[in-house]
Amino acid sequence: MCGIVGIIGQKPVVNRLLQGLKRLEYRGYDSAGIAVLGDTSLERRRSPGKIVELEKVIKADPIEGTSGIAHTRWATHGRPSFCNAHPHSSHRVSVVHNGIIENHSELRADLEKKGYIFQSETDTEVIAHLIDSHLTESTLLEAVQASLQQLKGAYALAVLSTEEKTKMVGARLGSPLVVGYGQGEMYLGSDAIALSHLSQKISFLEEGDLVEITRDSATVFNKDFHKVERPVISSEISSEVVDKEGYPHFMLKEIFEQPDVIRRSLQHYLTDSDQLDLNLPFNWADVPKVTLVACGTAYYAGFLAKHWFERFAHVPIEVDIASEFRYRQPPLPAGGLAIFLSQSGETADTLAALRYAKEQKQICLGILNVETSSIAREVDHILPIKAGAEIGVASTKAFMGMVVVLALLLLEASRSKEKIGDTELKQHLLSLRQLPSQLESLLKIRGHLKTLAHQVAQADDVLYLGRGTSYALSLEGALKLKEISYIHAEGYAAGEMKHGPIALIDNTVPIIAIVPKDELYDKAISNVEEAMARDGQVILLSDEKGHHDFSPGIGTNGSSLSDSSSNIERVTLPESTFLTSPLLYTVPIQLLAYEAAVARGEDVDQPRNLAKSVTVE
Ligand code: M6R
Repeated sequence: MCGIVGIIGQKPVVNRLLQGLKRLEYRGYDSAGIAVLGDTSLERRRSPGKIVELEKVIKADPIEGTSGIAHTRWATHGRPSFCNAHPHSSHRVSVVHNGIIENHSELRADLEKKGYIFQSETDTEVIAHLIDSHLTESTLLEAVQASLQQLKGAYALAVLSTEEKTKMVGARLGSPLVVGYGQGEMYLGSDAIALSHLSQKISFLEEGDLVEITRDSATVFNKDFHKVERPVISSEISSEVVDKEGYPHFMLKEIFEQPDVIRRSLQHYLTDSDQLDLNLPFNWADVPKVTLVACGTAYYAGFLAKHWFERFAHVPIEVDIASEFRYRQPPLPAGGLAIFLSQSGETADTLAALRYAKEQKQICLGILNVETSSIAREVDHILPIKAGAEIGVASTKAFMGMVVVLALLLLEASRSKEKIGDTELKQHLLSLRQLPSQLESLLKIRGHLKTLAHQVAQADDVLYLGRGTSYALSLEGALKLKEISYIHAEGYAAGEMKHGPIALIDNTVPIIAIVPKDELYDKAISNVEEAMARDGQVILLSDEKGHHDFSPGIGTNGSSLSDSSSNIERVTLPESTFLTSPLLYTVPIQLLAYEAAVARGEDVDQPRNLAKSVTVE
């Protein structure tokens, strides 16, 4: 999603601003721009498309200065275009903005009456004109503060003005903003990654903060405009740009990193003597209700865990999509446990859901990848997922990391509620410890999945079917495929298929059936038969026993990978338990989506319209 970099300094800034923008590319964007303070004026260069396009514009028409702001825009109000790209400027002011201003239409009408002429369709341009309208009788800081009083919505801002050339003003409400400390210069960034090439010394602004930075100081004001101190910490984000390390895409690299994600997680949460060590700030016996809230892939990780917690730990869990939960205002009993799953820790809806849960006096637990994120700073307790920076917009290793932490949480709950004994716990931990090497072997099926992906890549519609945790995986598989290959895909509970989607099935529809040999196997395999009876082209993911026991049509014995006599392709996975099967079956659904997108020639790491970090609702 949108990204901000700002430098107030003494040395040329243009290249360093562009480097900051490149570090933000992974978040997803569709235009970029830069404004620098020259001797007398603010000069802007902007371009739709990627940063390389902006670089061409700057090369053709160079600018330079020692202070500047830069932005990658993910379109909300107004399509991606030259005019809508940030920074937006008024006479004496230039602004970059992340977030959405909800009352922009009223403000725009007022400003137009005052003679301001708008050049874009964006909500952000009102901020530039508004600040300019306050500047005549105020300092830049006062003008920004007065303008913020008039804004409704969410923002992270960086503002420069020709009136005060040695200052930059920033503000945050609903979107993160970070201050960076340098030698004789200071920075603003939408996250620590944006500033990682400039400084490791950073401080995170809090909700409602306003900051004025000069070359050697940062003065922070809280929402009541009282001066406050925000701690300066040392960022652990390396100044090196994260590299693909020889893989053609970040997504593939991240899929292959999953065995290490599991290893790191087990090392973090298990003692040397294989004891669970989650350090939870509550007793399961005291928890009246568990609510789990997330978006997208993180939501599917939670949905998967619902099945686990209810069936194996007898803990009822309500799982909800954050954008629905936050406005439904569900009653939550005081002392309940609310779990928030998020890779970025910045998802606007999940953050809002967390704030609601806090108001309802829930114990708030974050299962998160970015430990310095906004959600991380607001929850009561974090269980980090130890996935490392995830760059591909399609989440893979973060999903795996979330599911592993949820598995450990499940074991902790089951033990504490005496649903499993020590011996059973040990067996489960052993099966988790074996997972990384099992996954390493499993990743070798990439070649087979690549062949199958060519069939999938030609389809207009794909159906994913599964029961239990495999139903959750079928939803995740369908999301993965549609977001990077743009093929329409749906995940369905296998038993629900005949209540509607079966009408879609013919010999052009690939059906990815996730059917481990578990207690739901017989039921799920009957649904596969039903699909095949209607000419559905089934790709069956199962283990050897599962394949062996399934002999559709005539003459197949389940021993070969491809049944020439029927419309079925088989992918064989290792035998699994209820705990390890979702972790194993995740790999083929990720690889299938990846290879289908590659086969269609799509931009796998930065799919159209998507953002890595969804900081607007
Ligand atoms: O950072 P989060 O985990 O909170 O993000 C949630 C979703 O935006 C994210 O999982 C999204 O659905 C991914 N593109 C899925 O691959």
